[in-house]
Amino acid sequence: MRIAMIGTGYVGLVSGACFSDFGHHVTCVDKDVSKIEALERGVMPIFEPGLDQLVERNVRGGRLTFTTNLAQAVSDADAIFIAVGTPSRRGDGHADLSYVFGATEEIARALKKPAVVVTKSTVPVGTGDEVERIIRETAPQAQAWVVSNPEFLREGAAIEDFKRPDRIVVGTDDPQAAEMMREVYRPLYLNKSPLVITSRRTAELIKYAANAFLATKITFINEIADLCEAVGADVQDVARGIGLDNRIGSKFLHAGPGYGGSCFPKDTIALLKTAEDHQAPLRIVESVVKVNDLRKRAMGRKVIQALGGEARGKTVALLGLTFKPNTDDMRDAPSLSIVQALQDAGATVRGYDPEGIEQARAMMASVDYYDDPYEAAEGADAVVLVTEWDVLRALDLRRLARSMAQPILVDLRNVYPVEDVENAGLHWHGIGRPSRPH
Ligand code: UDX
Repeated sequence: MRIAMIGTGYVGLVSGACFSDFGHHVTCVDKDVSKIEALERGVMPIFEPGLDQLVERNVRGGRLTFTTNLAQAVSDADAIFIAVGTPSRRGDGHADLSYVFGATEEIARALKKPAVVVTKSTVPVGTGDEVERIIRETAPQAQAWVVSNPEFLREGAAIEDFKRPDRIVVGTDDPQAAEMMREVYRPLYLNKSPLVITSRRTAELIKYAANAFLATKITFINEIADLCEAVGADVQDVARGIGLDNRIGSKFLHAGPGYGGSCFPKDTIALLKTAEDHQAPLRIVESVVKVNDLRKRAMGRKVIQALGGEARGKTVALLGLTFKPNTDDMRDAPSLSIVQALQDAGATVRGYDPEGIEQARAMMASVDYYDDPYEAAEGADAVVLVTEWDVLRALDLRRLARSMAQPILVDLRNVYPVEDVENAGLHWHGIGRPSRPH
């Protein structure tokens, strides 16, 4: 099949590269000339493990090309995917659909043969109807089926998620469009990945409901972690104890500093807006958003408490700055709130991250950045493990303890066993596990 992928952001690029790896002919389109030129030279605009090799392999095989010419890519495509950004609209938190609708108009003008137009961008319920209307009005003669096909890719594991999905969701009432989508996903479908074919509006809602549910699960265990601290219980054991119940499941029960990233914060708020507009309030999701925001700020206070309640004049080293490992994405990362709180309290903040320093620097200019975790920790009054990168999972704790001004480790991801930390001569502070008196 011939596929046009509009938008070479995270979702578009990963999806386009993976489709070409299935044997389809894919043209990835972007308005950003420098991005397209860089991709043609094999330079990726984002950090995603394995993506550069995947792109290179398929470019070499002649199945993957990049262009700024949308009309050309669309004119001979059987399936056109819209994978442009849907950021939060300034002021009201609604998803900003201007890129989606702009792309739709351009697609409509370029359609030359029957095709499915697929929204992969995360879009509020009813957006597909609007996309269909725009196509009908812009190009009344065109034959296009508008389908919703949300993505569920996790940054850092996106290729694996694309190739081994828990499910593929396709929203269309049209049997012919459904058949074309089956063809697009044939390799996965043959591999027995479940295909959920449903109405377009339902598919659009599935994406938001999935993200809101996962955000709820994380927030639930985070609050249980706070309770564990108060009553002297261990959240890791609680998570295991409840997660082994198949009805609950063990994933996304890892307590931490609060969720961040490009999806959960934005999508939960957009879902609340949809709910508000339709007078069907989602009170649980409302609480999740509030609790998570407060939590990120509370993490800064937790560090100050570990410092004995006073941060003025102290130096704190943050290890791991991105919202999660294996990405350079800093959007809504808990580190942003922690840095703010510490600096407000008069601390000097240092930062180390394996991939995110450039992005972090753009958002937090007043942090001192280091290329090595041990250098960042030298002479510091506290080390805070914010993001559980693999390189931060096996630190030489004795070396850290020896080089610091005060031996304080705040492990916001519960990576290190308390005994190991204490045996290395560090004072341990973590999440949802009883702290011992020092
Ligand atoms: C998420 C969804 O998982 C994905 O399906 C969707 O398409 C996009 O949004 P992503 O934002 O890449 O993916 O990251 P994810 O791995 O889900 O983590 C989100 C946040 O939750 C991170 O800040 C992470 O640290 C946090 N998290 C996750 C926890 O704190 N505890 C957990 O148990 C899991």
